Amino acid sequence: MISRCDKERCESAGCYASLCVGAGISSNDEIFERSSLAIPGGVNSSIRAFRSVGGRPYVVAGAKGAHITDVEGRRYIDLVQSYGAVILGHAHPAVTQAVSAAAVDGTSFGAPTPREMKLAEAIRDRVPSCERVRFMNSGTEATSTAVRLARGYTGRDRVIIFHGNFHGATDALLAAGGSGVATLGLPGTAGVPAGAVGETMVVPYNIVPQLDEAVAAVIVEPVAANMGVVEPLPGFLEGLRAECDRVGAVLIFDEVITGFRLGVDGAQGRYGVTPDLTTFGKVIGGGLPIGAVGGHQAIMETLSPLGPVFHAGTLAGNPIATAAGLAALDILEPEVYEELERRASQLASLLEDACASAGVPAHFPRVGTLVGAYFGNGGQVYNFDDATTTDEAAYSRFFHAMLSEGVAMAPGAYETLFVGLGHTDSVMAALASAAQRAAVVAAQL
Ligand SMILES: Cc1ncc(COP(=O)(O)O)c(C=O)c1O
Repeated sequence: MISRCDKERCESAGCYASLCVGAGISSNDEIFERSSLAIPGGVNSSIRAFRSVGGRPYVVAGAKGAHITDVEGRRYIDLVQSYGAVILGHAHPAVTQAVSAAAVDGTSFGAPTPREMKLAEAIRDRVPSCERVRFMNSGTEATSTAVRLARGYTGRDRVIIFHGNFHGATDALLAAGGSGVATLGLPGTAGVPAGAVGETMVVPYNIVPQLDEAVAAVIVEPVAANMGVVEPLPGFLEGLRAECDRVGAVLIFDEVITGFRLGVDGAQGRYGVTPDLTTFGKVIGGGLPIGAVGGHQAIMETLSPLGPVFHAGTLAGNPIATAAGLAALDILEPEVYEELERRASQLASLLEDACASAGVPAHFPRVGTLVGAYFGNGGQVYNFDDATTTDEAAYSRFFHAMLSEGVAMAPGAYETLFVGLGHTDSVMAALASAAQRAAVVAAQL
């Protein structure tokens, strides 16, 4: 039975109904139940439904800095940070002011704007491989555009992807991988026809595949951040560059997570390997919907209207999203990344200490500002087969123990843990104590 909120009663009980943005309901379960009658599974991105960790999701009423607050008024230290889209902390004043100012000027026009020009210039100036940048509305659109562009540019069809990398809900990239061997043309989900992945080959991460002249593109997460966090082995990215050069294929770095998160020039700056095309999302929108493809002028100008590869979007280059992204990039100077890296390092070691002292086998590898989590006694992780030795049930136990202690981790064992500028020293200290208590509880479950 779904009840309506009784505003007077709720206010006197200090409830957060006013933050319910008009839903008129003040409990997580009630909102989730009602949402499930209008939205399949009650969510707009599958992982949010908590299916892989069990239980019911919290429903967010608002967020500030490192914290999110649910509609029942419970506050959590947030390690999700919109899956990496938020880097300055939630509702950072620079972003909210930029968004308000842009909204007053109008929300969308279907014509060029100065804000999209400035964001494109900001990306071009910081990432040398991106001589031209085209915007769209999500990372998924970015990867699908990059693949179309690479195919159109080379006149070839085959695309190489790596098992355990994730490139969004792009049909051609939703291919299933075999264990440790190359596979071709197996749909990774219902609804993807065999034809859509007929030219998609899945190969193991961290091994340079031998390419041939049928290959249009190799797309890779230069640091894998969707199977925990896996660093590229020395020589892997360099090897991909050399193989692509040898056969004339386009090398695409999917930096939807790593772009402006690992550093000003992303993973390509960190490892000194230059891709032909880069896909962006998340951080470049300051927490608003955005995606982008950047790359060499000659390839980028194969896009319409200059070239034959079609691209369009009603809201592409949206003035509010580009304003938010610009506000974020303006703050993201190199020293900010040093600070974020220090915090990520603190996070990895406080989790490591908490689990070790409670006798919970786990390790938390860190690459720059990215932290992963693996539970159980598995060793070093180099690829998807290693990653999936993680003990998912142990992750779920720790996840729920942390949630009870007021810490929100991603509800899935293969996600990255994110810190932002909102994670101050006092937040990190609170996080350390919460993790110590949670690990003790998780060990007893
Ligand atoms: C590496 C990578 N590429 C692409 C995407 C898809 O981005 P979006 O969710 O904005 O469509 C994601 C999403 O998490 C991602 O992690």
